[in-house]
Amino acid sequence: MIPIVTIDGPSGTGKGTVAGLLARRLGWHSLDSGALYRVLGLAAQRRGLAPDAAQALAALASTMQVGFRGQDVLLDGEEVSAAIRTEAVGDAASRVAVHGVVRERLLARQREAARPPGLIADGRDMGSVVFPDAGLKVFLTASAEERAERRYKQLKQKGFDVSLPKLVREIRARDERDRNRSTAPLKSPPGALCVDTTSMSIPEVVDRVWEAAKRAFPAAVV
Ligand code: C5P
Repeated sequence: MIPIVTIDGPSGTGKGTVAGLLARRLGWHSLDSGALYRVLGLAAQRRGLAPDAAQALAALASTMQVGFRGQDVLLDGEEVSAAIRTEAVGDAASRVAVHGVVRERLLARQREAARPPGLIADGRDMGSVVFPDAGLKVFLTASAEERAERRYKQLKQKGFDVSLPKLVREIRARDERDRNRSTAPLKSPPGALCVDTTSMSIPEVVDRVWEAAKRAFPAAVV
C-alpha cells in the first residue's frame, strides 16, 4: 500500500504550496492536478476549442503530451509553467473541468503519480474521486477575500498586472462553477481533516498536516 495524502479545497487556500513543502519534507512525490486541467485549458484555447465541446476536449485530454520536470510544466515539449498560471487559463481550466468525459480521460494520468515512497496530491477531487482510499484526506478553506489577497500577492510577484476586486469576482465565479458542477464537485470528502487557513501561515498549515500524516502513517512518517 502506497501512503497517499490528498489535499483538496478552493483556489487560493495554499493547497499547492502546502503540498509541495510537505512532499519535500517527506521525500514523497507530489501531484498538482490543477496543472493538468490548466494545461488542457491552455491547449484548448490555442486550438480555438469551445469550452462546451466536450468530446473534442476529451480527445485532446487523451492526446496532449504533458510533462513535469522539477517545477516546470511542459505541453507537447514546450515549457508552459508561467503561461498556465494566469487567471484566464484558470478560468478556462474550470470550464473544461466540468465535463465528466474530460475528467475520466485525466484519471489514469493522475493515478500513475501514486508511486513509492508516497504521494501528496492536491486539487478538488483528490480525496473524493481520484484517490478515494487515501490514508489521509485534508480539506483546506479560507475566506474568498483572503484567498484573493493571497493570489494578488502571488501574481504581482510574478509580474502580472492584476486588480484585487476583479480577482475576488473571478475567484467567486470559479468557486461557484467548481462547487456546482455535476461531476466531481468541489466538496470536503467524508472523514477529511478540515483546516480553515484564513488566519494561519503556510508553515502552520504544513505542521498541522504533518502531524496528521504522522498519525495516519506512523511507519512512513518519522
Ligand atoms: O488548482 P488550480 O487553481 O490550479 O485549478 C484550476 C482549475 O482546474 C480549478 O478551478 C478546477 O476547475 C479545475 N480542477 C479540477 N479538479 C482538480 C484540480 C483542478 O476540476 N483535481
